[in-house]
Amino acid sequence: MENGHPLRIIASGRGFQPVLEDHAGTPLRIIHIPVDADYRADVAATRKAISRDTIVIAGSAPSFPHGIIDPIEELSELARANGVGFHTDACLGGFVLPWAKRLGYDIPPFDFRLPGVTSISADTHKYGYAPKGTSVILYRGRELRHYQYFKATDWPGGLYFSPTLAGSRPGALSAACWAAMVAIGEKGYLQATEKILKTAAEIRRGIADIPDLYVLGDPLWVIAFGSKTLDIYSIMDQMTRRKWSLNGLHKPQCVHICVTLRHTLPGIAQRFVDDLKSSAAYVRQNPQGKGGMAPMYGMAATIPDRSMVADLLDMYIDLLYEV
Ligand SMILES: Cc1ncc(COP(=O)(O)O)c(C=O)c1O
Repeated sequence: MENGHPLRIIASGRGFQPVLEDHAGTPLRIIHIPVDADYRADVAATRKAISRDTIVIAGSAPSFPHGIIDPIEELSELARANGVGFHTDACLGGFVLPWAKRLGYDIPPFDFRLPGVTSISADTHKYGYAPKGTSVILYRGRELRHYQYFKATDWPGGLYFSPTLAGSRPGALSAACWAAMVAIGEKGYLQATEKILKTAAEIRRGIADIPDLYVLGDPLWVIAFGSKTLDIYSIMDQMTRRKWSLNGLHKPQCVHICVTLRHTLPGIAQRFVDDLKSSAAYVRQNPQGKGGMAPMYGMAATIPDRSMVADLLDMYIDLLYEV
């Protein structure tokens, strides 16, 4: 800790706020910077947030809420110019963007081709089609990788060392992950990505054509949409009744669909758009609808004390255990 201040991690405004500390137990503080009108991390605000305590800047390729790729090139250059690390969170995009680029989509560089990028995460358990519990973190060089090792040299149980932060890991998961990747192969990933991006474009066009709805930013396959006139959470509830499981988001209030291979089956995209059209029409005619998740999301959006919202979520999870 320099100057008695916690060290800083700078990330765009949609991140979590976990309690973190470095190897020496120094607390790490996350500074969330806002996103711009296109839902991309604000580079100017990032520049302003950098101080002598900053150790790393992070950006998403793309972000979970709105599926938008941050300006990784500018952000990582900023990190390099200030002598700090830059992490690309490609958990969602790591197994889509490289194939999308090969398919001819205009994908900006987000990886080690950019000299400022020092680490990248990519979830094999998402678009790598491997089991949950597997993921990849890549470092620019061995020196950085050393920080994830755990070593206990004075323990009576022997010399304990573990290559990952999470400690011992099941080998079966890694084997299953490897098997999935080898079985799918480059051809399989390319085909899957092509189908997903085409289907997502169809869904995006369909959403944009529905009166009262708008798409947030310029996404590829995670499409967030909101409404300036209708209660978007009531629309989400109507979609739930039609068997769609969508994620409710807030700040701003919206909902997203993360298009996966399942959605690329014949007729599914059209069914989604038709169901969304009829859900919006229903809410237009019944603006005071009750039940579902809409009241909870609506209320959570209006409570300024976020610890109260966290308490409400505890109560909600308690109920799930007790029913
Ligand atoms: C961009 C991004 N980063 C990180 C995560 C965390 O993923 P997990 O904890 O499932 O590995 C997610 C999950 O959806 C994500 O979308």
